Amino acid sequence: MTGATGPVSRRRLLTGGALTVGGVVAGAAATAGLSGDSSKAASAAPAMFGGNVVPFHGGHQAGIDTPAQAHGTFLAFDLAAGVDRAALGRMMRLLTDDAARLTQGRPALADTEPELAALPAHLTVTFGFGPGLFAAAGQEAMRPESVAPLPAFAIDRLQPRWTGGDLLIQICADDPMAVTHAQRMLVKDALAFAKPRWVQRGFRNSRGVQDDGVTQRNVMGQLDGTRNPALGTAAFDAAVWVDSGPSWLHGGSTLVVRRIRAEMETWDAVDTTGKEFSVGRRLASGAPLTGAREHDLPDYKATNALGLTVISDTSHIARAHVDGDRQRIFRRAYNYDEGPGPDGRSDSGLVFASYQRDVGAQFLPIQRKLAEADLLNDWTTPIGSAVFAIPPGCQPGGWIGETLLG
Ligand code: HEM
Repeated sequence: MTGATGPVSRRRLLTGGALTVGGVVAGAAATAGLSGDSSKAASAAPAMFGGNVVPFHGGHQAGIDTPAQAHGTFLAFDLAAGVDRAALGRMMRLLTDDAARLTQGRPALADTEPELAALPAHLTVTFGFGPGLFAAAGQEAMRPESVAPLPAFAIDRLQPRWTGGDLLIQICADDPMAVTHAQRMLVKDALAFAKPRWVQRGFRNSRGVQDDGVTQRNVMGQLDGTRNPALGTAAFDAAVWVDSGPSWLHGGSTLVVRRIRAEMETWDAVDTTGKEFSVGRRLASGAPLTGAREHDLPDYKATNALGLTVISDTSHIARAHVDGDRQRIFRRAYNYDEGPGPDGRSDSGLVFASYQRDVGAQFLPIQRKLAEADLLNDWTTPIGSAVFAIPPGCQPGGWIGETLLG
């Protein structure tokens, strides 16, 4: 990209472009304190992706096996009293119709700012049903047993303001304007049936900052996602898509959203060796402490001169690791940063989003082991928790949730 666009951009900036915007460029360069070398910034101009769309319709909802976009907003709602199965059907038809339009770069049905729909930048909208929605629909028998509040863990410091919810709308895109516009339109649709309970906004690296698909770092500085099932593989499908139990959910998934605060003040006081020991991986490369490269397989049995395992039995990766594709979870986490607080302290962490076929069979055993013993627990605190069933996708003319509510 740099090679192809660099010289062109540079030339435009310095010659042709300068004819029309010369004053602006010169002014901007002066303001930014740039000298003659404005070429670096110009040559790094990213390829345009504002018009790019992710298909809405299909067997699965988008936003799960979609490469994680830079911006993610998770909105949870409480259903209004008296909202029943028929009303839920009306709500989901409305929401589906507008989500299908907006994700394809078209205005919502009653769009009040239709101009904002033109640049979806890989916008996806993913709907989830919390435990209360099944009760409202009179469909308790259709609720997977573990689509329920998680059991309490000793590490939890859950706050009601980040916990629970009957309906989830996950909105992701590579541009925050696309997210904010979709949020506004979809909230308007939902308001006749539900009121917002919480909203969690998260971010990852902007597109173009590094190659697509490489493992990104979280706010704690760690490469996070190395041993995730890879998109487009049989391992991913085996971990994520529901293929047994209530047939209405086949092709769907389940989602656990945990808001996990990173205790940055104390984490920052730990040296690199201590940080690496707590996770079992190196900070610079992401390699396991027994390997050299990020994707080397950890050797949990290797011992050092003292006879102790190199990767501690209580390190995060030793505790979180499971064998077997059907036991794994798919982590699609976002970072959050709402700080600093009035005291200057950080308020950041992860909007930890875990997709799996079955919360009880996959997420819970891992979370239990982590809650029992995980060195990383000293620097991470779960402050929110919610569980949703993610209905399968729909075809044109259909709507999300039709297999349960139709
Ligand atoms: C703020 C909280 C957390 C942080 C900062 C964190 C960070 C990390 C890091 C750096 C890795 C190693 C690289 C990788 O494979 O992705 C990792 C691995 C992993 N984490 Fe976490 N994690 C957190 C919470 C959780 C939670 C709540 C769960 C599940 C309940 C979880 C499950 C896993 C799993 C399954 C792996 C891969 C283990 C393996 O097979 O090697 N993590 N995490």
